[in-house]
Amino acid sequence: MRTQVGIIGAGPAGLLLSHLLHLEGIESIVIERKTREEIEGTIKAGVLEQWVVDLLRETGVGERMMREGTFHGGIELRFNRKGHRIPIEELTDGKRVTIYAQHEVLKDLIAARLQAGGQIIFNVGDVTLHNIDTSAPKIRFRQDKIGEFQEISCDFIAGCDGYHGPSRSYIPNRKEYLKMYPFGWLGILTEAPVSAPELVYTNHERGFALLSTRTPWIQRYYIQVDPNDNLSNWSDDRIWTELHARVETTDGFQLTDGPIFQKNIVAMRSFVCETMQYGRLFIAGDAAHTVPPTGAKGLNLAAADVLKLSQGLVQYYETGKTDRLNGYSEACLRRVWRAEHFSWFMTTMLHPDPTQSQLEKKLQLAQLEYTVSSRAAATSLAENYVGMPIDW
Ligand code: FAD
Ligand code: DHB
Repeated sequence: MRTQVGIIGAGPAGLLLSHLLHLEGIESIVIERKTREEIEGTIKAGVLEQWVVDLLRETGVGERMMREGTFHGGIELRFNRKGHRIPIEELTDGKRVTIYAQHEVLKDLIAARLQAGGQIIFNVGDVTLHNIDTSAPKIRFRQDKIGEFQEISCDFIAGCDGYHGPSRSYIPNRKEYLKMYPFGWLGILTEAPVSAPELVYTNHERGFALLSTRTPWIQRYYIQVDPNDNLSNWSDDRIWTELHARVETTDGFQLTDGPIFQKNIVAMRSFVCETMQYGRLFIAGDAAHTVPPTGAKGLNLAAADVLKLSQGLVQYYETGKTDRLNGYSEACLRRVWRAEHFSWFMTTMLHPDPTQSQLEKKLQLAQLEYTVSSRAAATSLAENYVGMPIDW
């Protein structure tokens, strides 16, 4: 097989890159370890930054999102059993919080790619990268994990294969920065009506809780748990008891519950790989950097990377110049570190750490109190939450 850009991974980074390149007349082939059904059924992110929403609309894949998504003008921070609204829209000149599930974005991108004749090869195995320091790199893989080895010859490789993917390991002399948090999130989907008009981020002495939504009838809730805990320890009753206890307020907030039809536990890490490129290989999204989900930044950062990568590739194919491609990593990393900081800030402010001192607990509450009382502090949170301008 031969294409211009070989893309490893059909997550948000890989699929959006393939879509953006197609609109510029650049061919790509995407290979993916999972089946299409697995990709379209994996529950992850929910919050999209305003510029990502605009990009999806402008590139023809935003129609269902605009119809089925949920749009909020603010978020709530809840602590000491009291809620405080951060009026995001007012503080950011009209930018909104969009909630539209990641797997729905992926369904829309997959449909658009296939309709345009794009090639996505699902269920591949044994992926290796070759000749990345030459102008003729190759990707080798096995179809259906057990078939004959196949090869894609290309001009460039985009490693969009997530935190556990192989691409990053092909960058020699990279420096990796990592922090693991001593807690994780247990996420559920429940068939229940909406309990709160906007997302609620709660710091409670029993642990963090987040109320998010998917549709008026399906809610997405998260609670802080031990990252090594097992789902079998979490009966539906235990989950509801924790959620009710953590989000209760002194003014009688009522959490509506219902049948739980999906649960999972995710670990939380802050991670950055410098640099994000070597020869003809460019890595993007979670393959290059991961954030704890509290700031809702991961998918959005993946989109920012591939927008920049697509611009570099367009410049190369239109003019033969490589300065944008050469500057790819540097152009991405400024935004990456901003989002890393914001995600760490939100995480440390909102999660009681099992190892923290009484003094640190008080400092957390002092930071929350400041964030909800000072317009300057609330504006800073709002600016980061809706996403810095794309040229940041
Ligand atoms: P991935 O989504 O990980 O995709 C990588 C793909 O590569 C996968 O499909 C994988 O199967 C494939 N792959 C791996 N190895 C190989 C291989 N060897 N060969 C071929 N394919 C391979 N982000 C937000 O912006 N907003 C949010 O609200 C938000 N909430 C979150 C909530 C939770 C609970 C979690 C877990 C994450 C959340 N995120 C959020 C983060 C977001 O989901 C990720 O940052 C995003 O999925 C990254 O996209 P990606 O394409 O870089 O990587
Ligand atoms: C969701 C996920 C997040 O990480 C977040 O900060 C807010 C909402 C969600 O899945 O809806």
